[in-house]
Amino acid sequence: MLDKINNLLSEITSFSIKDQEDLEAFRLKYLSKKGLIADLFEDFRNVPAAEKKDIGQKLNLLKQKALERYNVLKTELQTAQDTLAINDLTRPAYPWFLGSRHPISIIRNEIIEIFERIGFTVSEGPEIEDDDHVFTKLNFAPEHPARDMQDTFYISRISAEDSSPDDILLRTHTSSVQVRVMQHQKPPIRTISPGRVFRNEAISARAHCIFHQVEGLYIDENVSFADLKQTLLFFAREMYGKKTEIRLRPSYFPFTEPSGEMDVSCTICGGKGCNVCKYTGWLEVLGCGMVHPAVLEACNIDSRKYTGFAFGMGIERPAMLKYQVNDLRLYFENDIRFLDQFKTAF
Ligand code: PHE
Repeated sequence: MLDKINNLLSEITSFSIKDQEDLEAFRLKYLSKKGLIADLFEDFRNVPAAEKKDIGQKLNLLKQKALERYNVLKTELQTAQDTLAINDLTRPAYPWFLGSRHPISIIRNEIIEIFERIGFTVSEGPEIEDDDHVFTKLNFAPEHPARDMQDTFYISRISAEDSSPDDILLRTHTSSVQVRVMQHQKPPIRTISPGRVFRNEAISARAHCIFHQVEGLYIDENVSFADLKQTLLFFAREMYGKKTEIRLRPSYFPFTEPSGEMDVSCTICGGKGCNVCKYTGWLEVLGCGMVHPAVLEACNIDSRKYTGFAFGMGIERPAMLKYQVNDLRLYFENDIRFLDQFKTAF
């Protein structure tokens, strides 16, 4: 009996296989109910009582070794098959999953391209800013409500009562980038600043505390309101179609004088009136105006020699219109099922 056990043990350890069939043969020969090891367990009944303990242990060990060997052979076979599959040149290729651009990026790039075609460069700046660049240099009076805690996310406030130029905050518009450009560049300046901005607003389908803007700035000698209008008309027609009409309404911003707001004829109904434009025929698109001389002076630009215009628009609204997205929050959730729908856009 001992000899038989030892023989089987050495057979098992040197057993090699080529394929699934050999593996099955191994199982049948040694491990199945009618296999050699089962036979030995059968014979075990006849072993004299004195030897039972010793032989019993060896037999159990044999069974364990056979199982181990079976598992090793099985894994080896699987690995060999996997390698073969990888090297099989006739296998169909793995599908290549391409990502898609975020709808906000698509619209931002479209806006940038339009302005680049008429000579604007792109400038970027920090999202964490100081009061000086976001408000003070832009002619916001110290008590101006836009500085109020309700709109601005402060990171550190030097004085809780009045805002200090040293206050650190999240920028509420990318006009702060234009201040930086004016401080470091001499006119002529022709630049747009795309970027993320932050305002302390309740999050809903139509408002979010984070959104995106593209703001523009043009400074040179003899820049007039007519230049602003013509630039905006060009932009509107490139962006919303050749038949688009624009309308300018008077408005107020501390950093522009005069200030305006531009509407475009509704992109859905073409101006006839529909529920998107609330039956007015117009959609509000951007704020604009002639750069206030106080802003130029604060940035060391001679306001008697130079004039300029500025404009700023949000990206979320046009993107909602274009892609018929009715909830702003979808832009920030990064749900693959939403983003995947923009695969064909670029
Ligand atoms: N900065 C303004 C905003 O955040 C937009 C604007 C830019 C208005 C430039 C006029 C001129 O809404």
